[in-house]
Amino acid sequence: MDAVILCAGKGERLRPLTENRPKPMIPVAGKPILEHIIEKVENLVDNIYLVVKYKKEVIIEHFKNRPKIKFLEQGEIDGTGQAVLTAKDYVDGDFLVLNGDIIFEDDLEKFLKCKNAMALTEVKNPENFGVVVLDKDNNIIELQEKPENPKSNLINAGIYKFEDEIFEILEDIEPSERGEVELTDAIKELIKDRKIKGIKLDGYWNDIGRPWDILDANKHLLGKIKTSIKGKVEENVVIKGEVIIEEGATIKANSVIEGPAIIKKGAVVGPLAYIRPNTVLMENTFVGNSSEVKGSIIMKNTKIPHLSYVGDSIIGENCNFGCNTITANLRFDDKPVKVNIKGKRIGSVRKLGVIMGDNVKTGIQVSFMPGVKVGSNCWIGANCLIDKDVESNTFVYK
Ligand code: TTP
Repeated sequence: MDAVILCAGKGERLRPLTENRPKPMIPVAGKPILEHIIEKVENLVDNIYLVVKYKKEVIIEHFKNRPKIKFLEQGEIDGTGQAVLTAKDYVDGDFLVLNGDIIFEDDLEKFLKCKNAMALTEVKNPENFGVVVLDKDNNIIELQEKPENPKSNLINAGIYKFEDEIFEILEDIEPSERGEVELTDAIKELIKDRKIKGIKLDGYWNDIGRPWDILDANKHLLGKIKTSIKGKVEENVVIKGEVIIEEGATIKANSVIEGPAIIKKGAVVGPLAYIRPNTVLMENTFVGNSSEVKGSIIMKNTKIPHLSYVGDSIIGENCNFGCNTITANLRFDDKPVKVNIKGKRIGSVRKLGVIMGDNVKTGIQVSFMPGVKVGSNCWIGANCLIDKDVESNTFVYK
């Protein structure tokens, strides 16, 4: 059996994090989302086909030497159905299809026995998803797209098993109103003949679409790590909880690290730095004197050298924070932090800091209000208070 993982999408809701990488390559718990998915399926299948398009080179570079992995390029980004069709001449017999942007805990074993199947998960807000209705034998009898009145709280979890007849069905599907060949339209054909089962997944599941989904998945996965200290730890460092310090990382004197946390190769922490739970410092990052980082992902080569606070934030690669750069992550009224997603202002979670692209530089004493986004390649001049999103390639100054 083979697996097809859909990775061609533009990940627009995750700008600016997807300006320079496709969504599946955003790091969660120290490695790309896609890496977590591949680890789940690589022992179940013979070949893994990654369907790529947007920023494909980032995926190819990362996985090019990995056994079992092959790349298929989608012509246009014109629907999940088209993405699956890309694999028509390659997969052999039954195959798995997985969206390239989900973090899940289930081992998928129970899928292998089914012919056509869709993974389901239970959520509190089914109206935002594809809602599934089952008969008593777990055949799917209805699929409602983002319904106002959901008939169940079981939703399409973005993992499927198909027999190869799905290709013929897909070839006959007309594009939807948004001009895409939708995989779910082909599934509706299988539903008509009660030919597809719903299989409930066990454990954690998250469809990564918005920045706070990344932080939630990061927290979940960090909750599973076990301490491993291979890097250099200087005198008077306090380490509590589960912490991974990779070989080639250095923790300088008098720093405190509260796990769960991952400190990757080449990262330098301290002296006198404070790393709090649910933080990942990617390769070659630096968190220096009297800087505190909490609940955040700091991507590779980013430097936070002195007197800064970064909380509940995602910071891109190659950023440099001036002394005393501060993120706010909580409103006075404790209400969910508002974030702009594709032009709409929506409530997120109670604590959210800044979402920053790559190559951003801040001057001294720059502050960010909760939930602001800063595009890649921005310069934020000394003493600025950033309370609105900043477009990429902007120089903000007082
Ligand atoms: P979407 O949820 O539409 O994901 P997206 O990456 O396009 O994100 P956004 O909505 O923020 O722009 O798609 C589900 C999965 O299918 C996702 O893993 C991307 C992938 N995909 C393709 O591979 N090809 C396509 O043509 C489309 C539309 C999606």
